[in-house]
Amino acid sequence: MTSPAAKKSAPPVSALEPERLRPDFPILQSRVHGKPLVYLDNAASSQMPRAVIERWVRYQEREHANVHRAVHALSETATREYEAARHTAMRFINAREAREIIFTRGTTEGINLVMHGFGRAFINQGDEIILSAMEHHSNIVPWQMLCEERGARLRVIPMNDAGELLLDEYEKLFNPRTKLVALVHVSNALGTVNPVRGMIRAAHQHGVPVLLDGAQATPHMRVDVQDLDCDFYAFSGHKMCGPTGIGVLYGKAGLLEKMQPYQGGGDMILSVTFEKTTYNALPYKFEAGTPPIAAAITLGAAMDYLTAVGMERIAQHEQALLSYATGQLREIKGVKLIGAARDKAAVLSFTLEGIHPHDAGTLLDLEGVAIRAGHHCAQPVMQRFGVPATARASFAFYNTFAEVDALIAGIHKVQKVFA
Ligand code: ALA
Repeated sequence: MTSPAAKKSAPPVSALEPERLRPDFPILQSRVHGKPLVYLDNAASSQMPRAVIERWVRYQEREHANVHRAVHALSETATREYEAARHTAMRFINAREAREIIFTRGTTEGINLVMHGFGRAFINQGDEIILSAMEHHSNIVPWQMLCEERGARLRVIPMNDAGELLLDEYEKLFNPRTKLVALVHVSNALGTVNPVRGMIRAAHQHGVPVLLDGAQATPHMRVDVQDLDCDFYAFSGHKMCGPTGIGVLYGKAGLLEKMQPYQGGGDMILSVTFEKTTYNALPYKFEAGTPPIAAAITLGAAMDYLTAVGMERIAQHEQALLSYATGQLREIKGVKLIGAARDKAAVLSFTLEGIHPHDAGTLLDLEGVAIRAGHHCAQPVMQRFGVPATARASFAFYNTFAEVDALIAGIHKVQKVFA
């Protein structure tokens, strides 16, 4: 019998050289259960390089005060840095204006903001919202809540067995009651990169705006909201080397202007009397209360780091990891890949015959290999493929081909334990 090692093809060459970047990430030097950490749970949350950690520390040690509120020097510094981070985010996704960048707690809050501010203003009894069959719960549940409240309904774009949306079916879903398309850019459970540019154009031909859930896209590819022409784009900091508790909602200024504020409080107002409040201009209308200043500034540093590495190089390296890992996984008997879209990000969802994904995940952890096992907050995807859960390895630019080998060796070990 050929040994797994003998079967293995040679790893491809990548221009990124992740080994040179890995020393930037203190956590990647750790050991887990006595084994070197092989961190393959990047779709859940990515790791932070030292420069980004240091940006947080520098802010807390030397720059912290509240923003937009005082005339003292520290407050001016904090305000300047917070607004500089907004400009960094604007450039990162190529928004037209900084006022189109709203800092949120993350993708989920961004989508809820649109549900509240756009949905409650423009979606009524009998209206329809188009979603896809591969949405994360965060792009299903808020719309379901709105539908219940308003008597509206969800229409779902189906997908094929490879995990690709059926575009003909999508086109058929539009009718005069369609008020919004809310679509994932890159699926967290399948890795599918949806052809969102064309899908947005199709929606606009019907006069329907489009919200993209970009949580799994911004860490892995260049995103240009003007080129995509999306109306809203939500993403999170912690999946792109930034901290938790921060994200961005991009919205076209014209639409944001028409929307109701999401939360009321300080900073989002121009004047308040007991009779009437007038709201602040964009983006502050949507940033009630003291914002996550440290997190926003640190996210700016994370975006600078990714830009310095180069989003094209990141995408190219991750594609090389994906094709190397896919080739290896396909060689293993009993492994079934869930999601084989032609255009895919470096996410590998799979099942192992006779082994529950949680057991696989637990045993892999003992080898130092961190993956996620479960429904990945995408239960309809699991239902579509007839599985309760999958094991999921998700890659970042700092992952190496040797780590793919460690995953494959770990899977062989898991199978041996259950043999
Ligand atoms: N949505 C995150 C994931 O896919 C948490 O793991």
